[in-house]
Amino acid sequence: MNAKPFLVIPVVSVFCLGLLAGCASPKHPIAQNPKPPVSLEPPPAVVKTNRLVIHADQPGAEISRNIYGQFSEHLGHCIYGGLWVGEDSPIPNTRGIRNDVVAALKKIQVPVVRWPGGCFADEYHWMDGIGTPTNRPSMINTTWGGVVENNHFGTHEFMDFCGQIGAAPYICGNVGSGTVQEMMEWVEYLTSDADSPMANLRRQNGREQPWKVPYFAVGNESWGCGGNMTAEFCADNFSRYNTFVKDYPGNHIYRVASGGLESDYHWTEVLMKQNADGLKHGGQAMNGYSLHYYTLPTSNWSHKGSATKFDEAEWFNTFRHTLVMDELVTKHSAIMDKYDPQKKVGLIVDEWGAWYDVEPGTNPGFLYQQNTLRDALVAGVTLNIFNNHADRVKMANIAQMINVLQAMILTDNEKMTVTPSYWVFEMDTVHHDATLLPSELQSVDYAFGDKTIPAVSASASRDRAGKIHVTLCNLNPNQSIEVPCELQGAKAQKISGRVLTAPEMSAHNTFDQPDNVKPTEFNAFKVTDNGFVTTLPAKSVVVLEVN
Ligand code: AHR
Repeated sequence: MNAKPFLVIPVVSVFCLGLLAGCASPKHPIAQNPKPPVSLEPPPAVVKTNRLVIHADQPGAEISRNIYGQFSEHLGHCIYGGLWVGEDSPIPNTRGIRNDVVAALKKIQVPVVRWPGGCFADEYHWMDGIGTPTNRPSMINTTWGGVVENNHFGTHEFMDFCGQIGAAPYICGNVGSGTVQEMMEWVEYLTSDADSPMANLRRQNGREQPWKVPYFAVGNESWGCGGNMTAEFCADNFSRYNTFVKDYPGNHIYRVASGGLESDYHWTEVLMKQNADGLKHGGQAMNGYSLHYYTLPTSNWSHKGSATKFDEAEWFNTFRHTLVMDELVTKHSAIMDKYDPQKKVGLIVDEWGAWYDVEPGTNPGFLYQQNTLRDALVAGVTLNIFNNHADRVKMANIAQMINVLQAMILTDNEKMTVTPSYWVFEMDTVHHDATLLPSELQSVDYAFGDKTIPAVSASASRDRAGKIHVTLCNLNPNQSIEVPCELQGAKAQKISGRVLTAPEMSAHNTFDQPDNVKPTEFNAFKVTDNGFVTTLPAKSVVVLEVN
């Protein structure tokens, strides 16, 4: 497939700028010291002064199931080979979509899938991806390896995939190189039931009924690969394109605008000021505002670090960077509050996850990386952050679903394995659409060199059946940690739990050993007078159910 030289360098350099800008704020501790000095001395003894208070008598926001969403881009083997093999493949499939992948994704109840990009979205022309597959024109995927994209996976195939796994589609429209008309016609093709040109074209292509498309992004990363715009130009462009993203009878679209670089707060001001109340300006509202943030262990886009071969310094720095997500969400939310105090506009973190150097010997433009216990903790901590900000974070999409970056699933031809990150999504399904229980956490430090981070992360919710679930992560790879938990307004009677951990920081699943890292039963807890106390194993994600 690949005929062209690798073309990802310009994108990577934009990312470099992104990270520098993102972490360059003088206030940010990581920015001041991008390469923290590390010590190989053993960390200081952990002092047991943890305390978690869960306010079960103070219900918070609903945790949208969409926080547990996924992202699948035409990049490397996410689509081709990952979820799509074509009907003629010897790999068992349904209308070209892998059965093993569908079964695995159904188990984690994927609520929403973002597609077709990413950077790819702003060079994608949807009309090339409909009709008889062999008649579809090809294109060059200039961002991701310069490979030739044959467009065999297009609109119908994506909507079929969403149907097979039971997820809602979240389509990203082309603002960077596409026209307003093209975007308008895609929405008509997808969602109109009229006797109209695009709806009839869809019928000709075998789909009588319109689909439901609940989520639509008006462009991706408009500050960079999506068109190198200024915030002001993006805000105007959003208003213009979004005006023609129509709600046809029976379908209501939640419209998402592109955010700026991760800590570009000016961009958020501009977009919110102009578009938060679209109706006031005679246009369609901006329902969601997008934020992207990736965790790099080293802060260096040229040498991000290996996915599997790392020491404790890289482990520690990975979490220092992961925890920045809380600051980003807090600060963007504060700006959004100014223009939207009722929190009608959702913060949509539609790209997040760990980004390492590609696995040796693989195409650098395909972003294929292994996934270890470290990634499971990146997922556990980040999902706790999103849960705790459920009043503003209404969707998040981990990058990416299969074979790319922090993937749920890895495939190699007919082989498939799920990753440690997958298991965190599986364990955390208990929080989908549950009510957040506000909590206060006092955590001991995890110290490395002269730096510290909180060792414990937590979030809690109550589901519709009244059960309380608590996800706790222990980032310290060397020591177990006891966490006393006070439950206010509820009494713990019966507790059960599951844990994800492994002897090595870099433990991971392979095609030959797919069960190296998977959840097991957990019972290191006991009920106390005012709640419970639990002991979290070193480097673990624990989910407790409290009845
Ligand atoms: O997820 C990989 C890439 O990272 C996406 O295409 C782009 O939007 C982002 O910067």
